[in-house]
Amino acid sequence: MVVMPILAPSILSADFARLGSHAQEAIDAGAEWLHIDVMDGHFVPNISIGPLVVRALRPLADRTGVVLDVHLMIHNPEKYIDRFAESGSDIITVHVETCHDLSATLERIRSAGAKPGVTLNPDTPLHTIENVLGQVDLVLIMSVNPGFGGQGYIPTSTRKIRQLRALLDETDSHAHLEVDGGIKPDNILEVVEAGADVIVAGSAVFGGADPVSTNVEALKSAWSVTA
Ligand code: DX5
Ligand code: ZN
Repeated sequence: MVVMPILAPSILSADFARLGSHAQEAIDAGAEWLHIDVMDGHFVPNISIGPLVVRALRPLADRTGVVLDVHLMIHNPEKYIDRFAESGSDIITVHVETCHDLSATLERIRSAGAKPGVTLNPDTPLHTIENVLGQVDLVLIMSVNPGFGGQGYIPTSTRKIRQLRALLDETDSHAHLEVDGGIKPDNILEVVEAGADVIVAGSAVFGGADPVSTNVEALKSAWSVTA
């Protein structure tokens, strides 16, 4: 069975002065999800956006069916889960490095009405999340150190994606395997072939001089070589 990957453009690289229309361009071009990067200036050395922006994008998501995929790069994420869920997040992903009780935090996300996801930094080994794989709807492999868009893909991530794909398959998990950081048309196929089914792309969608539609087309045609 061939499963077509999902494209989740990261709005971190969008033009915030016209966020709604820029996001709409990506959706019109075929993006299925929107990836929303939340940074607190503590867990990562950058500050981005909060629940207000999720709330502002919710009507667009309702109109188009796009999934709001929220990636929390913040300390003490449990303090903010209710607010992100109420604001309209479909998926809330937390970092294993930030959770005192990861399992309880994931449970809290589900009872708040969102789908729980877990993620880990490039230097964090996979075994740190193995015991919660049965609890999540999504596992996100960071292929850059979180904090900024536009960084280069860390090549060792491909092996980690392959290992996680094997783990998910062994346990009959239906969790999405998402990859985030440095993905471009020239490496997207490698990531998909390793087992990813959701691809985050920020600068490759919203950056550069080409229109968003051209960028989305370039990413989607690069992975459909095998599809
Ligand atoms: C990094 C963020 C990523 C980033 C992706 O901390 O989690 O989502 O914005 O951007 P690109 O695709 O430009 O690496
Ligand atoms: Zn992200």
